[in-house]
Amino acid sequence: MLEEKRKKAMEGGGEERIKKQHEKGKLTARERIEKLLDEGTFVELGMFAESRATEFGMDKKRFPGDGVVTGYGTIDGRLVFVYAQDFTVLGGSLGEMHAEKITRVLDLALKNGAPVIGLNDSGGARIQEGVDSLKGYGEIFFRNTIASGVVPQIAVIMGPSAGGAVYSPAIMDFVVMVDKTSYMFITGPQVIKAVTGEDVDFESLGGARVHNEKSGNAHIFAKNEEEALHLVRALLSYLPSNNMEDPPFIDTGDPPDRMDYKLDKIIPKDPKKSYDVKDIINIIVDRGTFFEIHPLYAQNIVVGFARMGGKVVGIVANQPKFYAGVLDINASDKAARFVRFCDAFNIPIVTLVDVPGYMPGVAQEHGGIIRHGAKLLYAYSEATVPKITVILRKAYGGAYIAMGSKHLRADVVYAWPNAEIAVMGPEGAVNIVFRREIKEAENPEKRRQELINEYRDKFANPYVAASRLYVDDIIYPHETRPKIIQALNMLENKKEERPEKKHGNIPL
Ligand code: HXC
Repeated sequence: MLEEKRKKAMEGGGEERIKKQHEKGKLTARERIEKLLDEGTFVELGMFAESRATEFGMDKKRFPGDGVVTGYGTIDGRLVFVYAQDFTVLGGSLGEMHAEKITRVLDLALKNGAPVIGLNDSGGARIQEGVDSLKGYGEIFFRNTIASGVVPQIAVIMGPSAGGAVYSPAIMDFVVMVDKTSYMFITGPQVIKAVTGEDVDFESLGGARVHNEKSGNAHIFAKNEEEALHLVRALLSYLPSNNMEDPPFIDTGDPPDRMDYKLDKIIPKDPKKSYDVKDIINIIVDRGTFFEIHPLYAQNIVVGFARMGGKVVGIVANQPKFYAGVLDINASDKAARFVRFCDAFNIPIVTLVDVPGYMPGVAQEHGGIIRHGAKLLYAYSEATVPKITVILRKAYGGAYIAMGSKHLRADVVYAWPNAEIAVMGPEGAVNIVFRREIKEAENPEKRRQELINEYRDKFANPYVAASRLYVDDIIYPHETRPKIIQALNMLENKKEERPEKKHGNIPL
C-alpha cells in the first residue's frame, strides 16, 4: 500500500502531462530537484499532503503532494531547503495544502539557518480554493519577509508565474528566469487587452529577457533549465547559509600579491573615452571568480560577487562603457539593493569608481531620481561590512559621495594617480565659475582652455582629497589587487555599531 501510494505521488499529474511538460522543453518538478541538489541528497517532506477542497469538482481531483514537491538536501555539501511546483498537477496552482507545504519549508529554513530555493511553475492562486489560496500566498509572503536578511532566498522561474505567484519571488533575494519558457506578470495578455486595449504576448509582456533587461525584476538570465539550476549552485557558493555566518572561503590558488601592469594602461588618456570596467574587475579578483548579478539591467553600473584571496567580496563598479557610467534611477536601485544584500550577509564591498555624476534630464527628475539616488547614499551609509573603495578616474559631485566615499564610512579609500575628484568636471565647472571672464576675454576659447587646465591641475586630481584624508592612499593601478586584499585582511574582524532601532526608513 505504501509503495503504491508513493508511486502515485511520484507520478504527479500523470504520464500524459509529463510528456507535455517535456515537449515544452521543461523538466518536471522532481527532475529539477535532482539536478539542483547534490546527487541522492533530496529528502522529501509532505508527500501525502492532499487538498481538502470540495467545490468545483475538487473532491474528485486529489493528487498526493498537492502540486508541489518540498524538502531539503545539500548543494556542495551544505544544507538547503527547496520547493518545486509541479505544473502537471492542476497547473501547479497554489491551493491551501500546496501553500502549507511551502510555508513549512520556509519555517524550517529559517529555524535551521539554511538557504531556500523555490522552483516556480504555477498558474497562480488555485481558483477553486478561493480565499484559502489567497491566505496561502499571504502566509508565504509573510515568511519571505521575515526570512529576508536572515537566510538567502532564491527564486527560479521555470514556467508561468502569474498573479500572486510573482510576489514571493519579488520578496526573495535573487530571481533567475529561463529564456522562452518562463514568464511573470500580475495580469496576463487577456486582461491587459480588456482593460487598456494593449496587444501583447506572454514573451514580450513578461518573458525572461524583458524582466532581465527592462523591468529589473529578474537578476539572472538562463538559456535553459539546466543552466538556471547550475547558476543557482554557483551563486550559492558565494553566500553564507545565514546572516550569522561568513561566506565560504575557498583557496583559489591565485596569489594575493599578483600585480598586473596592464592596469597602468587600461584607462584611455582622453577622459571622454570609455573602457570596459569588467576588464579591470576580472584582472583584480581571483581568476575566473567574477559572478555578475543583474548583468543585462542598468548596465551603466556593474555588480556581482567575486573572490579576492579566497574571500568573497561584493563588487560595485561604474561602467563607463554605458552612458559614461552615470548614475541614473535604475543604476541607483540596482546598486543599492546589492549593497544591502552584501551588508545583510557579511560580504565586504569593493567599490570601483569612475562616475561623471547623477544623470541629468526631465525624465530622470520626474521619475524620482532624488528618491532613487538617495537609496544608494542610504545603502552605503547603513552598511557596516568592510567597505573598500578605489577611485579609478572620475568621481564627481553627489555621485562621488554616493559611490562608497569616506564620508559614508568607507574603511579604506584608494585613488589611482590620474583620479579626478571634484564637484564637477573641468568643462562644466569653468563654464559656470568663469562665465563672465570667458565672455569678456579677447580670445574666449583660448581663455576657456587655460582655465580648464588650471582647474584640472588644482582640483581634478586625487591629491587635494588625500591631503584632507578623504583618500587614504594613492596607488599605482598595478598594485590594486594586493592593496585591496591587504585591506580586506586588516578589516577581517571589523565591528561597527549603529544606534538600536526597529528599522530605518530607506527612501523607497
Ligand atoms: C486552477 C489552474 C490554474 C489556476 C491553471 N490551471 N491555472 N487551475 N487555478 N490558477 C489548470 C488549468 O485549468 C489546466 O487544467 C492546467 O492547470 C494546465 O493549464 P493550461 O491552461 O492548460 O496550461 P497552459 O495553456 O500552459 O497555460 C498556463 C497559464 C493558464 C497561462 C498559466 O493556465 C492561465 O492563464 N492560468 C490562470 C492564470 C491566472 O490568472 N491565475 C490566477 C491569478 S490570480 P486541466 O485540468 O484543464 O488540464 C492570483 C491572485 C493571488 O494569483 C493574489 C495574491 C496576492
